Amino acid sequence: MKMRAAVLEGFGEPLAVQDVELAEPRAGEVLVRLHACGVCHTDLYTASGADPSGYAPTVLGHEGAGVVEAVGPDVAELAPGDHVVTLFSPQCRECVHCLDPRTNLCLAIREEQNKGHLPDGTTRISRDGEEIRSFMGCSTFAEYTVMPEIALAKVSPEAPFEHACLFACGLSTGLGAAINTAAVRPGSTCAVFGAGMVGLGAVAGCRLQGAERIVCVDLSPQRLELARGQGATDLLEGGEGAVERIAELTDGFGADYTFEATGNVAVMRQAVEAARMGWGLCTVAGVAGRGETLDVVPRLLITGRRIAGSSFGGVKGRDQVPVLVDRYLAGEIDLDPFVSHRITLDEVNRGFELMEAQDGIRSVIEF
Ligand SMILES: NC(=O)c1ccc[n+]([C@@H]2O[C@H](COP(=O)([O-])OP(=O)(O)OC[C@H]3O[C@@H](n4cnc5c(N)ncnc54)[C@H](O)[C@@H]3O)[C@@H](O)[C@H]2O)c1
Ligand SMILES: [Zn+2]
Ligand SMILES: [Zn+2]
Repeated sequence: MKMRAAVLEGFGEPLAVQDVELAEPRAGEVLVRLHACGVCHTDLYTASGADPSGYAPTVLGHEGAGVVEAVGPDVAELAPGDHVVTLFSPQCRECVHCLDPRTNLCLAIREEQNKGHLPDGTTRISRDGEEIRSFMGCSTFAEYTVMPEIALAKVSPEAPFEHACLFACGLSTGLGAAINTAAVRPGSTCAVFGAGMVGLGAVAGCRLQGAERIVCVDLSPQRLELARGQGATDLLEGGEGAVERIAELTDGFGADYTFEATGNVAVMRQAVEAARMGWGLCTVAGVAGRGETLDVVPRLLITGRRIAGSSFGGVKGRDQVPVLVDRYLAGEIDLDPFVSHRITLDEVNRGFELMEAQDGIRSVIEF
C-alpha cells in the first residue's frame, strides 16, 4: 500500500514528507494505523548525524499510538481494532531477560532492530523498489507502520492517542525509573535532576510511590513550574551549588533517592553526590554522549551510596505500559501539560525546531 511518511534522506537535512510503499505484515507482525506520535530528542539526534550508529534513508519516529488495522500469521494477542502504543524496547516474554524480573532488556530482536530491520532481517518500507530501513523498530513518522507483535503494548481504548503516545518513551522512562528501578519507598525524600519529559515522569513516579519530599532541579523556571504540577515540593535552579542546596534541604545528608534525567555527565555526578550516605540510590536515565564517562569518588560508594541505570524505566512494555495508561485514566497523572504543540506530519520539521528552542515538553503529530 501507499502511505505518507517523513523520510530522513541525509544527515543534517530536513525530513522529506512523501509517498512510500508499505508491504503487508508477515508472520508475527502487525499493521498499525497511527493516530499520534511524539517528536523526541532521539529522532533529532539521528537526523542531525550525531548518532554514530544512525543510517539513512529511514523513516524516523518511535513514540507512536494507533489502532491495529491488520495482523499477519501467528499473531496471538492482537486483533484489528485494538489500540496500541509502540515499544522501541520490546517484550518477547520468552528470552532469558524477559523471564527474569530484574530487567526489561529483551534480547529477542536487538541485533536486527539496530540494523534497521524487522526481526526477519528485512524491512517493509520501500520507494521505487529501494529499501527504506526502519528506525528503532518503529518508524512512526508515517500514516502506518508494520511492527512485530512483541513491540506493541495493547492499551485501553479510552486513552486519547495524544496522551497514549507519551507512554512510548520518556514518560514511561521517568515513571518506571521511580516505580521499578528505584522502587521509591513511601515517605522518602527524592531529588530529580532535569525537568524534561523523563524528569517530569520521574517526579510523578516518586509522587505515586508516596514520596514525602520531591526536590526538582532544572535550569528553566518554566519547567520547574511543570515539575510542581507533577508533585515536586521544592524547586531548585541547577548548576554549581545544587548538591549543597539539596544537602541543606535534607539535614545535611542528601536524598534517599536521586534521579538524573539530563544526559549531562556532570549532572550525573551531582546526582550521585546528592544521594544520602548509608542507602542513597542514584538512578541514571539520561543518555550521555559517546565516549563520555561518569566521574565518581569511590568513597561515596563505600559509604553506602549506590548507582543504577535505567533503560525505558525498567518497564516491561507489554505488561506494564497498559498498567501505567490505566493509572493515567484513573486520574493519577495529569498529562495535559506535556502536550505543548499539536502538529501535522507535514510540519514534522517544525517539531524539531520547537524542540531545539526548548519550546514546551512534547510536540505531538496528529494524523
Ligand atoms: N533511559 C532511557 O531509556 C531514556 C529514554 C528517553 C530519554 N532518555 C534520555 O533522558 C534524558 C532526558 O530526556 P528528556 O526528553 O527529558 O530531555 P529534555 O532535554 O527535554 O530535558 C532535559 C532537562 O535537563 C535540564 N538541564 C540541563 N542542564 C541541567 C543542569 N545542569 N541541571 C539541571 N537540569 C539541567 C534542561 O533544562 C531540560 O529541562 C536525555 O539524555 C535522553 O536521551 C533516556
Ligand atoms: Zn523518545
Ligand atoms: Zn525477550
